[in-house]
Amino acid sequence: MFKLLEAKGVPTDYVEELNDRETVLKKVEIVPLEVIIRNKAAGSFSKRFGVPEGTTLKCPTLEFCLKDDALGDPMINDSQIYAIGAATKEEIAKISEMAYKINDVMVEFFKSVNVDLIDFKIEFGRFHGEILLADEISPDTCRFWDMDTQEKLDKDRFRRDMGGVEDAYAEMMKRVGLN
Ligand code: TMP
Repeated sequence: MFKLLEAKGVPTDYVEELNDRETVLKKVEIVPLEVIIRNKAAGSFSKRFGVPEGTTLKCPTLEFCLKDDALGDPMINDSQIYAIGAATKEEIAKISEMAYKINDVMVEFFKSVNVDLIDFKIEFGRFHGEILLADEISPDTCRFWDMDTQEKLDKDRFRRDMGGVEDAYAEMMKRVGLN
């Protein structure tokens, strides 16, 4: 995903994959925010706003959560982010622009393998004054539904104790051409 996003003009911390288990990355300072983009309602969005899971949103939504496990990663708005110094206005402008672009690239890519990208969480890092996409993009951090059957192909199978976790991950690996 990071290679694809780089090719589409999104700067990332990816440098080189050495083998299945080791990847060289730029050593970024992680911006302490979880950035969530949603195309369809699911999970905490459905719970919070009473919108049934699977409802197509009129436009993608962008939300931020403060990365703090002890606080339970609370949702945070732009002015609160500036107020506590988690990121600057300029950084949030850049992160928001990149997040929507990443969504466009990912929606198109997953559509080509018959997968509906419901939502995802990404993180960003600071590197020599630049904002780079960092962390990971995987079935742990995205909601992937089969386009025809709406079958869940992501970590919700584990979170909701649905079984078939490994099969779903293997299916995603196959669809994206990684095995
Ligand atoms: P949510 O509906 O539970 O807020 O999750 C939105 C998306 O973010 C979903 O694709 C799962 C992902 N996510 C993470 O990657 N890490 C997390 O800690 C949480 C809460 C969600």
